[in-house]
Amino acid sequence: MMLESYRKFFDEAAATAEKIRQRISAGSTILVAGHFDADGLAAAGVLAKALYREGARFHVSVLKQLDPETVDHLSNLTPETIILADIGSGYLELLGGLARSKEIFILDHHQTEGECVGRFTHLNPHLYNIDGGKEVSGAGVAYLVAKAMNRGNQDLAVLAVVGAVGDMQDKNEGRALRGFNSHIVEDGVEGGYLRVDADLLMYGRETRPIHKALSHTVNPFLPGLSGEEDNCLAMLSSLSIPVKDGDRWRAPVELTTEEKKMIMSAIVENIISKGLEGAVAMNLVGSVYTLLKEEKWTPTRDAREYAALLNACGRMGRPSVALAICMGERGSTLAEANQILSEHRRALAGYMSMIRERPGIIENLESVCIIHGEDFLDENMTGAVSSLISSSEVLATDKVVLVLAKTKSGDIKISARATERLVEKGLNLGLVLQQNAKKHGGFGGGHRAAAGAQIPRSKLREYVEDLNKNLLGTLR
Ligand code: C5P
Ligand code: C5P
Ligand code: ZN
Repeated sequence: MMLESYRKFFDEAAATAEKIRQRISAGSTILVAGHFDADGLAAAGVLAKALYREGARFHVSVLKQLDPETVDHLSNLTPETIILADIGSGYLELLGGLARSKEIFILDHHQTEGECVGRFTHLNPHLYNIDGGKEVSGAGVAYLVAKAMNRGNQDLAVLAVVGAVGDMQDKNEGRALRGFNSHIVEDGVEGGYLRVDADLLMYGRETRPIHKALSHTVNPFLPGLSGEEDNCLAMLSSLSIPVKDGDRWRAPVELTTEEKKMIMSAIVENIISKGLEGAVAMNLVGSVYTLLKEEKWTPTRDAREYAALLNACGRMGRPSVALAICMGERGSTLAEANQILSEHRRALAGYMSMIRERPGIIENLESVCIIHGEDFLDENMTGAVSSLISSSEVLATDKVVLVLAKTKSGDIKISARATERLVEKGLNLGLVLQQNAKKHGGFGGGHRAAAGAQIPRSKLREYVEDLNKNLLGTLR
């Protein structure tokens, strides 16, 4: 039986779809503006595909954040209808001016702040007591509207699953999408677009040699194995697990149950030998989401690998490649995305070794672990670095991770992440960052476990000390 809150959310999605359809019929040109990470790009892809199928006139653009300059830019564009996807709910006041000259639709899952004034339609799960941080992504919200527009859009459920795993909404027991997301998964399965299996979540399960797949796995982060291909090969050889079948490399999908058990035991032992919780390894077992209409042996066949491709394209300044993939292009576009993913990995690995090796980068206060990347970190990479450090739990157990970089304008960009344990203690990072940033002349927001902010450089010291103090009560 469906929860009443879910039913209301579905109804509101249908009403939103109807309003968008009216804008199409009125001949209005629509701008879809999505956030630049995997979920935002998947959300923009869902809407672009749905609008294309309706024969609408539309443009797509990608936003890094909402600040006064971005809003100014949007207000100067010609389309008189704007759909914000995976962005907007935390910045309603800022958008007020825009809604005087344009019709605005916000399809988002971030925590909301402020009131909508003007020509706004605001669709957000939090307004129905559905946790947007864990139960439905920006692409999920976009999918609801797309499906209400036309049931033929049910195939887009897979992009909503890509968005949800891209936003790490699978951080549950068994790495499964739950709550509202399970309805979207059901749509995909029922339509024959998606299959859910339980397996080892090695990155490149169908596409990479076993040792490479293991070393490419960073969620969960496996100390000594993630990013360490030689160690992975040595471990497999010590277990006498053949990495080749004749001349051909074996992929993880070909491992026998016995071999998988041996690998799991070795990983647990390895984690414990590093003085860490062996239970982290359990995050390596869980739900695998396979996109059945994608070619076998390609990365877009696995939802998590698909999300990694989109994320890399967005963060490396190549969002159009990600959008083309969402719209269905493969071939040379997919090869290009793979290339961008390799560059993203290399950049991330480079940053991680700099953080480990250069003195003075890591600063520990009681409740926050600060990574000072102001002098070397690309502002678009703070989120990826922060997610990786927080989920690895190597640098900071039971602390909020803050990764800092300098923006082009000279401000400080902050990416904050918290573990599930801290969220269970009642931490709401999005809210704390939003309030703290405002207090110190900046802006911020996000979800309970993942949030961000931007503040003036001169306010950095007082900002982090204040944040550290504010978090103490919750974290103890
Ligand atoms: O803007 P959006 O909601 O799409 O972004 C959320 C970001 O937070 C994603 O980059 C996602 O990977 C990250 N995240 C995280 N840990 C969580 C939840 C989200 O690092 N538990
Ligand atoms: O940039 P990052 O990946 O760290 O963002 C984490 C989450 O916080 C995302 O969902 C992003 O949309 C949100 N965020 C925000 N306001 C900011 C920065 C980030 O709402 N100024
Ligand atoms: Zn999102």
